[in-house]
This record gives sequence, C-alpha cells and structure tokens, in this order.
Amino acid sequence: MLVEHQVPLQALNTFHIVARAQHLVRIRSEADVLAVLADPLWRGVPRFVLGGGSNLVLTGDVQQLVLKSEIAGCRVVAQGPKTTVVEAGAGVDWHAFVAWTLAQGLPGLENLALIPGTVGASPVQNIGAYGVELQDRFESLDAIDLETGRMFTLNAAQCGFGYRDSVFKHPGSAQRMGLQGRAMILRVRFALPRAWKPVLGYADLEKKQVQTGIADPTAQQLFDWVCEIRRAKLPDPAQIGNAGSFFKNPTVSADQCADIIARDPKVVHYRLHDGSFKLAAGWLIDACGWRGKSIGQAGVYEKQALVLVNRGQGASGTTGGEVMTLAGAIQTSVYERFGLMLETEPVVL
Ligand code: EPU
Repeated sequence: MLVEHQVPLQALNTFHIVARAQHLVRIRSEADVLAVLADPLWRGVPRFVLGGGSNLVLTGDVQQLVLKSEIAGCRVVAQGPKTTVVEAGAGVDWHAFVAWTLAQGLPGLENLALIPGTVGASPVQNIGAYGVELQDRFESLDAIDLETGRMFTLNAAQCGFGYRDSVFKHPGSAQRMGLQGRAMILRVRFALPRAWKPVLGYADLEKKQVQTGIADPTAQQLFDWVCEIRRAKLPDPAQIGNAGSFFKNPTVSADQCADIIARDPKVVHYRLHDGSFKLAAGWLIDACGWRGKSIGQAGVYEKQALVLVNRGQGASGTTGGEVMTLAGAIQTSVYERFGLMLETEPVVL
C-alpha cells in the first residue's frame, strides 16, 4: 500500500481549487481498501472517498486520509429477456462509460452523456439530465463498509434514491439508513433496456428534433445532441473550473408556487405528479441579477446561472471560501426576493 503525502488536489477537483491532501491512497481494487483498513497506522483516521472531484468544493487542505477511487473496467455481466446488465469500476470516467455502452450497441444512458465525474460517484447524487436519472437504469452496486471492512451489495430500493439524493448523502439514524462517509463504492451495475426507446420531451431536445428534422433519433444521435446542448450552455471543467449545478431545483407546494408566481409571473415552474411544483433555480438566480457576476474569482456562469465557476487559474484562482461566500450571497438574495432558501448541491470539505 503506497500512501502519498502532501498531494496537490488542483487537478483532482473540477473547480481546480488549490488545496492538498495530507495523505492519499490510490484504490485500484478491494484489496487496496482492505489493506488501508488493516494498517494500524491508519486505524481510526477519518477517511474521505474522492471520485472525479466534480461535485466538490475544497475550503482548505484535506486532513482526512483520501481514498482516491481508481477501480477500472467495464463489462457486460448478464443478458436478461428485458435488460442487459453492464458493470463498471467505480473509478471509470462516467462519460467514457456511457460512450462504451453505445459502442457495445447497448443504449439507455445516452441522455446522461458528458456529465463530469466517475461511475462510483454517479449513484451518490443520483445524477440526472434530460429526463433520465441514474435510478432509472441502476441495477445494483458493490461497496465496502469503511468501518467494518465488510463487502455488501445494494439494490435500487436500498440506495434510497431521490432527486440528487441517496443513502450515501445521509448519516445513519434510528429512523433512516445512512451511509455518509461510511461506504466506498467499488462497482456499479446498470440494467439497460433491450427494447430501447429514446427519452425525449425536454425542451432542449425538442428544439434539436425541429432543427434537424429528426423526430425519432437513434441513441447515437441523442448522445450527440446531449453533448452539443451541454457544450453550448455548461462550462467545460477542463477550461473553466466548476462543479456543475451548484444548487438543487427546489420543490414547493402549490400554495408556495402561487406565492412565487405572484412575486414574478415569469418564474419557470413544472408541475410534478404529486401536485407539487419544481422551480428552475437557474431562473431564480438569474432573476436576482446574478448571471455573470463575481465575488473575487468566484463567478456565476454567463450562460447558466445555476453554475458557479472559477474565474482564475492556479494560485490566482478562486478559493473554496470565496465560492461559499458567493453561494451564500446568492441564497440570501433569492430568499429575500422569493422567500425560498436554495439548497446547495456539491459536497463542501
Ligand atoms: N434558466 C434561466 N436562466 C439561467 C439558467 C436557467 O432562465 O441562467 C431557465 C432556463 O431557460 C430553463 C430553466 O431555467 O427554462 C431550466 O434550465 P435548464 O434547462 O438549463 O436546466 P436546469 O434545471 O437548470 C437541470 C439539472 C442539470 C441538467 C439539466 C438538464 C439540476 C440541479 N440541474 O438544470 O444537471 O443537466 O437540468 O436536464 O437538477 C448538474 O446537476 O450538475 C446538472 C448540470
């Protein structure tokens, strides 16, 4: 087991915030995790599992022992009558995995193309885009309990998926199972439908159908459209540091929604099955005048106000503290104008 010390994390977080890990171990198999857990030197030391660092704000050097997930490999594991089950190691790049499934002739994940991060992190926040959420395709995952060293498998129900939410984001309590900080995901399996149909219906996809004259796209066309849409409105983390959507789209009751519409009738809102409403947080932030604004080197992206960006590079880039100051200022103004507190999305360390 090789423990690296004072490891620069700038290239390991998509915000490109400058910070160091005091200690970091690269995890390439479950044996590596077990070796860490068995080593008396690291017994009782708090640990932090790092995937692609795409949903992370670093507010300083990381004191915990960083377990950097690098478990590789993609394979088809089972052909059922309705689905094909595929598996990927937690360290596999998510977008590369989506492209691999299509290259195998296995559609189903194309709406989730170009989401930054790793396969292992994908169930943690139940990633979603353009009408598909990870939970719609999820089969099961293997993980190791970092407290006991035991390996376990969870199905979708056990993962407790919600909107950008899962059991991995909550501490355990008497009422609710929680695995926050406790599980290291090793492998994730997905059940891809054999009778595939494109998932359309999102305004941006409908625009593509009209522009191209293609009403019934193939999975590859849909993949290409999603990549084009994302490239047009979301910053590429390789060029401009960011962590994707910084806030969740809030869900409100019909009464609250009416109150907000009374404050501004143009508010973008969608009715959900249960009668509640989802509001576009990007629109709310935009309406408060934040789009394109900055505090220090932390900025609000010009083309999508839901995304906070690092306007600088390296040592002259933003700090996690600055990002959180900007996030707090945005929350305050949205609260003052619309009476609603936006919930942040990334993990703040
Ligand atoms: N809008 C504005 N101004 C803005 C941003 C958005 O008016 O600055 C309006 C848009 O015009 C649109 C509405 O708000 O009417 C929604 O915007 P968009 O379609 O861009 O989607 P979103 O709700 O902001 C969500 C996800 C994205 C995902 C897209 C597409 C969340 C927190 N974000 O964004 O996910 O790619 O839908 O499905 O649910 C992520 O989680 O990191 C992420 C990028």
